[in-house]
Amino acid sequence: MSRERLCLLSRKRSLYSTSRLVEAAKENGARPLVMDTLRCAMLVEPDGSRLFYRGARVTGLTAAIPRIGASITAYGLAVVSHLDTMGVPVVNGATAISRSRDKVRCLQLLAAARLDVPRTVMATQHASVRQLVQLVGGLPCIIKLLRGTQGVGVMLGNTLAEVETILQTFWGLGQDVCLQEFVQEAKGTDLRVLVVGEQVVGAMRRTARKGDFRANIHRGGEGKPAKLDAHTRLAAVKAARTIGLEVCGVDLLESKDGPKVMELNSSPGFEGLEAATKKDIAGDIVRHALQLAVKRRG
Ligand SMILES: Nc1ncnc2c1ncn2[C@@H]1O[C@H](COP(=O)(O)OP(=O)(O)O)[C@@H](O)[C@H]1O
Ligand SMILES: [Mg+2]
Repeated sequence: MSRERLCLLSRKRSLYSTSRLVEAAKENGARPLVMDTLRCAMLVEPDGSRLFYRGARVTGLTAAIPRIGASITAYGLAVVSHLDTMGVPVVNGATAISRSRDKVRCLQLLAAARLDVPRTVMATQHASVRQLVQLVGGLPCIIKLLRGTQGVGVMLGNTLAEVETILQTFWGLGQDVCLQEFVQEAKGTDLRVLVVGEQVVGAMRRTARKGDFRANIHRGGEGKPAKLDAHTRLAAVKAARTIGLEVCGVDLLESKDGPKVMELNSSPGFEGLEAATKKDIAGDIVRHALQLAVKRRG
């Protein structure tokens, strides 16, 4: 019997998370196929869809794990959607990825599902900045690009003048931006929880570098394994289910009123998490993708 063929959509094989997924696929008896998303060509025909990689037709994929960077979201979503219409199980699907790429859209859905989220407001230059600041609980407050990643595009405004300057700059550039309550008591820490299916497979508490409030590992934050209480665990799993992500990194702030979900990452890097927890996160993701394929066949 031919081995399972697991497609990894990724710009580069040498990226930590991609190379770990390749390793894990082999360990789990599957053949990994790393495909550079931008080298995939999609043919749509009345009798179905076909995919070409570097000019050759691709068939017989068992499942696909998309690792779509923010810079190629639109093309990446088209490829994911194409695989889906070809009947290839994808973790994650295009709709779910697209929801998670927009921080406000994501928070709207989470709040509608009765999950606790930081108070957030989005508006255009027609609004009164003073009122917007009041709506999120006053100063200091967070200013966030809707499509920022790795901590880039998250700022702290200490004065009304500062917030006004930053907002006018982004609005002037045509960038979507929101204001958010600053959860000060988190003291530059947050929780990164990795959810696969209905399970939390790893969690770490990240602490920002001295002088920063952003705990992202890419901003020099440090991760330590975290034990989650049942409430936080449930919130992370419910957030993933609400957005429809099979595999994701859920970022939460520990506020005085309990955990607040900040955002979901649909292609979470897990180098920091594997280092902090010594867990086989790549193996969990690969096994989930293969199980999903078995379930679909059944
Ligand atoms: N409302 C907030 N209050 C306090 N800290 C925040 C808030 N929002 C973000 N942060 C800090 O900034 C980091 C990056 O924010 P996040 O919304 O996750 O954007 P990114 O997509 O860039 O990771 C978080 O991990 C957290 O440490
Ligand atoms: Mg984040």
